[in-house]
Amino acid sequence: EKGGYDYFMLKEIAEQPKAVADTLLGRIGTDGRLTLDELRMPDRMLREIDKVVIVACGTAFHAGMIAKYAIEHWTRMPCEVELASEFRYRDPILDQRTLVVAISQSGETMDTLMALRHAREQGSKVLAICNTNGSTIPRESDAVLYTHAGPEVAVASTKAFLTQVVACYLVALYLGQVRGTKWGDEITGVIRELSEISTQVGQVLETMEPVRALARSLKDKNTVLFLGRHVGYPVALEGALKLKELAYMHAEGFAAGELKHGPIALIEQDLPVVVVVPSPRGRSVLHDKIVSNIQEIRARGARTIVIAEEGDEAVVPYADHIIRIPRTPVLLQPLVATVPLQVFACELATARGNEVDQPRNLAKSVTVE
Ligand code: F6R
Repeated sequence: EKGGYDYFMLKEIAEQPKAVADTLLGRIGTDGRLTLDELRMPDRMLREIDKVVIVACGTAFHAGMIAKYAIEHWTRMPCEVELASEFRYRDPILDQRTLVVAISQSGETMDTLMALRHAREQGSKVLAICNTNGSTIPRESDAVLYTHAGPEVAVASTKAFLTQVVACYLVALYLGQVRGTKWGDEITGVIRELSEISTQVGQVLETMEPVRALARSLKDKNTVLFLGRHVGYPVALEGALKLKELAYMHAEGFAAGELKHGPIALIEQDLPVVVVVPSPRGRSVLHDKIVSNIQEIRARGARTIVIAEEGDEAVVPYADHIIRIPRTPVLLQPLVATVPLQVFACELATARGNEVDQPRNLAKSVTVE
């Protein structure tokens, strides 16, 4: 049942190219436009929305953080992302013109369910992004966009996360398409590149041996830090979460720009710091800033593990280890950058003798608040 893999997690990591392709299947028309009729939300309604609010927990929350960048960029509508467990306790501002997006792999997470019930009570429409057919969250939502990751057995979410990110892009691009934005041409281009992304995820998977060796070499460390900017920031948070839950190590993700506001004090000799580097094309200002962050932490003794695009040579002088990922449009980078972090956490967990598929104290779906 594990298909020749030692753990479900390894199998599910390997299934990601297919999971991503399946989530796109039938949703991109031959004319390069998205067809999401399955949402059954009339275009008129989608044009009237003036705000998007995303609620989710854990890994799904990280997918939501990425979605915010995509939604605000492609639709020019404000988008908030909130931990589902915090949402209803702060009296959020919601009305009929707010689209609430609830992201959940299991569809049974109680915090997320309570958040969506609260939103519906306030008159908002709820769209679920979910991986489990007929589960509670889609049943209680106005509309659902299913991720087609297939069953995810390992407690740590991997393929579900990638497909959640894909589904979020589909929602963002679709809203952009229906509402019409100045990014029309860009949207068409991104839809095309999105259909290439599953091949690129496959390419990343083929180059993971050095990442495994690196993980094993760090098995006696206590702490690993993760830095990223823009969509690389949620990727850093996701890398840290995977390491906490699987390797039981102290791991923290930071927005790299915050480093100088405190966390840089943590840097000491030989501390492993993973840095997710944005593409030098596109938002090149961010790229240059993060390169100076890498330089700063290395000067203070950090062992820098750099995830950077093919051909990005600027990082080379400051990287103790480089993990290469394929070139993608800026907003799509999380789909390739997260994969090495999953492999890294899985290998460290194994090296530390932990139970990969069933980490201590965790359950696959959290049905209590
Ligand atoms: C992390 C993980 C959890 C879940 C979270 C939400 O690997 O699995 O953080 O992402 O409990 O679960 P769902 O998506 O089922 O609502």
